[in-house]
Amino acid sequence: MAIYEILQVGDEVLRQKCLPVKEINDTVRELLDDMAETMYRADGVGLAAPQIGITKRMIVVDVGEGLVELINPELVNGRGRQIDDEGCLSVVGVTGPVERYKTVMVKGLDRNGKGILIKAHGLFARALQHEMDHLDGILFIDKVKK
Ligand code: NI
Repeated sequence: MAIYEILQVGDEVLRQKCLPVKEINDTVRELLDDMAETMYRADGVGLAAPQIGITKRMIVVDVGEGLVELINPELVNGRGRQIDDEGCLSVVGVTGPVERYKTVMVKGLDRNGKGILIKAHGLFARALQHEMDHLDGILFIDKVKK
């Protein structure tokens, strides 16, 4: 396992649209391990692959309910709304209110390539939406309510 450097806003990698993972192999699994280790070391609740310079559609989230890893995540549906302060390991020292769905259903693949469907509420739903935005080059500061 390895700790990666987390890229900071201004790095163009954070603005790229990430590519789907085509083959799930040991390299991908090792990367998921490294992403989780990097997230925990930085005291974050989520991390997306582009934040460590890898433009692939992979995220990890842990809001205190256990680690969730998702490959090629997609929003199936979102309901309700919540507005709360958000931050990002790639935008150190900045927080601001962002509107998100309150409840989401997200589908993706696990580390073995098996399809999974996750239903999330509250902070967990917020973190999933935040991390999925990263895969399309979107940062929370783009969405902060003025
Ligand atoms: Ni972030």
